[in-house]
Amino acid sequence: MTKVLTTLSPFAEDVMQGLHADNKCLPSKYFYDAKGDKLFQQIMHLDEYYLTRKELEIFKTHKDAILRAINGTETFRIIELGAGDGLKTKVLLKHFMEAKVDFTYTPVDISGNVLSILESNLKKEIPGLKIESYEGDYFDALAEIAESPEKDIVFFLGSNVGNFSESEAVSFLSKLQNFLKKGDLLFMGVDLKKDPSIILNAYNDSQGVTREFNLNLLDRINDELGADFDRNQFLHYPYYNPHTGECRSYLISKIDQVVNLMDEKVHFGAWEAIFMEISKKYDHKQLTKLAAASAFSIKQDFLDSESWFADVLWEKG
Ligand code: AVJ
Repeated sequence: MTKVLTTLSPFAEDVMQGLHADNKCLPSKYFYDAKGDKLFQQIMHLDEYYLTRKELEIFKTHKDAILRAINGTETFRIIELGAGDGLKTKVLLKHFMEAKVDFTYTPVDISGNVLSILESNLKKEIPGLKIESYEGDYFDALAEIAESPEKDIVFFLGSNVGNFSESEAVSFLSKLQNFLKKGDLLFMGVDLKKDPSIILNAYNDSQGVTREFNLNLLDRINDELGADFDRNQFLHYPYYNPHTGECRSYLISKIDQVVNLMDEKVHFGAWEAIFMEISKKYDHKQLTKLAAASAFSIKQDFLDSESWFADVLWEKG
């Protein structure tokens, strides 16, 4: 028998591999199709999803201290990984412009659509801002733009680092660190450990938007890969481990069932889970360890009034 070799898209490959693993999983990076982008926007406006509000508070309260910590009056460039709609970053960019410091803003995002909206908004709202956006993968972008004479400050905001496990975070940050020059900075948003019920509610909101956000990936697999997931047969279950700080989301099969996916059958036993996303929370001890393991030195922490969220400033030594 000859087997026809077809090239699968990276999405198809990752889905196949994840659903054939002993512990089934789907990569959360695929949450963000057009519908997923909208749902995430909705999540950011939920009362229970405190992360966005807290980081915005940090920027509003500490914008001048942040500027003083990153600048020292030299020219610099801000490279923002995963820029999104720039809602929060705008507060800082405006302040830096008003302080008349010389800098360029380089947002990097995989979505060209997101970038062009961001660019036209920023040009309107912050006249004179020097903006050079870059569409593509983070490390492809860094490889292309890293060699610059001026000081670089990499923004990685919104607790995006939380989507990595501890060891994935170390390899991501070590790799990032390799693109930087001595004295360059990383400005990173991290969600902190707190009352577990507050964390759990952020990922189990009363309006069910987060459940929808997770189930949307099953819809996406149906639409793009011709599968036949019945979303009603899956339960959304987030779980927080206060020891590790990991909040993990699962979709759990309510029944014994078979899902058809690209000429293959995927069996789910009753109550078998698909691991969907990790949203890791840190404490100061874990952050110190993470900085050391990825060869950064800690310069300063900026916190909100309740110490729920931190923007940390780390330097390449
Ligand atoms: C965009 C990765 C920071 O993990 O908190 C929100 C995504 N998932 N609700 C997070 C998300 C469920 C979010 N990050």
